[in-house]
Amino acid sequence: MTLHIFLLLLLLLLLLLLSPPSRVRAVPAGRHHDYRGALAKSILFFEGQRSGRLPAGGGQRASWRGDSGLSDGAGVGVDLAGGYYDAGDNVKFGFPMAFTATMLAWGVVEFGAQMPSDELRHAAAAVRWATDYLLKTVAQLPDRIFVQVGDPISDHNCWERPEDMDTVRTVYNVSADRPGSEVAGETAAALAAASMVFRSLSDDGYADRLLESARRAFEFADAYKGAYSDDPGLKAGVCPFYCDFDGYQDELLWGAAWLRRATQNDTFLNYIQDNGKTLGAEDNINEFGWDNKHAGLNVLVSKEFLQGQILSLQSYKESADSFMCTLIPESPPSSSPHIEYTPGGLIYKPGGSNMQHVTAISFLLLAYAKYLSETSQTVNCGSMTVGPESLRLQAKKQEIIR
Ligand SMILES: *[C@@H]1O[C@H](CO)[C@@H](O)[C@H](O)[C@H]1NC(C)=O
Ligand SMILES: *[C@@H]1O[C@H](CO)[C@@H](O)[C@H](O)[C@H]1NC(C)=O
Repeated sequence: MTLHIFLLLLLLLLLLLLSPPSRVRAVPAGRHHDYRGALAKSILFFEGQRSGRLPAGGGQRASWRGDSGLSDGAGVGVDLAGGYYDAGDNVKFGFPMAFTATMLAWGVVEFGAQMPSDELRHAAAAVRWATDYLLKTVAQLPDRIFVQVGDPISDHNCWERPEDMDTVRTVYNVSADRPGSEVAGETAAALAAASMVFRSLSDDGYADRLLESARRAFEFADAYKGAYSDDPGLKAGVCPFYCDFDGYQDELLWGAAWLRRATQNDTFLNYIQDNGKTLGAEDNINEFGWDNKHAGLNVLVSKEFLQGQILSLQSYKESADSFMCTLIPESPPSSSPHIEYTPGGLIYKPGGSNMQHVTAISFLLLAYAKYLSETSQTVNCGSMTVGPESLRLQAKKQEIIR
């Protein structure tokens, strides 16, 4: 299971744990799921994926792990130790790792206040393990961002544990002449979202560092527009697994949206307003995952429309509504087809790794429900009005019953 999918499972657990009781019970009476325990183990999982020098004392509870990848980057004269391995391999892929950090931070930003203090501390540590690494990857801006450590074939196929690996640890970077706006934009989003986590924990020094780097990553993403998979050398490195299939435009808006949320700076609001159309925000692309940020972008930006009555952002709310309507089977037909559910009621989308859709979409249902509740508003599905409680109910139906 890759890191970003696991992350989304974690968020789903968190949200199911925290969402208010609903009238319909998804778990039959008499059965009980230990969501608190599942959430704790989900956060613990990230310690198992750590690369780099592990902390002494209680900071590394996954005690079977040891230091690894300490000389990552040394071949090109930089320190790229740290971060997370992607999955059951030894590769550090910047693009999905940054998305993982963004989503983990988003979960803490929305729901951290309800987490037990120990788990909040562990979750913040999980965010920081990613962002400490991401800060290293952007340290050479405006010249380049390091986007991957590890060869997609030899490091992926390596069956050695990372503590023992003896593979070449190839390092890949993007630069002005080989741009990567998707990875740069996602890195900006991750650093900005994480800054909100550490601001809320009163670590202003770290939050400021994250924001400063987020700005620089975003400027680079916007100044040198392009997809990293368009360069033949980079393509060979990133494409076996994390090719940019859906374009970089969504990550530009997503990075700007997170910078806006973290800073309240109008430069980023203007960016979202002025570039929404040209960068495809109004195309009603009903996807959300490591490669495609559209539905998440619309939910995120709608918060500001709902709370701030910023009329120029109305199209984002309309797109978010349209996405939510596709998830409500009873809603009237529209230009976007309804999402498919399995006979047992699980969200189903064609392609691999179905649970990434289940978890990502459930997160958006619950986040949007929160924004709507806070502002006493609803979703417009043509002739039907859908309230936040219906969205929560739809998410709770994704709960696994065995
Ligand atoms: C960045 O990538 C280019 C192209 O592969 C390579 O020539 C250059 O040496 C790399 N720079 C660093 C610092 O890794
Ligand atoms: C807003 O962000 C822009 C771009 O990063 C920056 O130039 C400007 O100084 C910021 N404004 C404030 C008030 O911080």
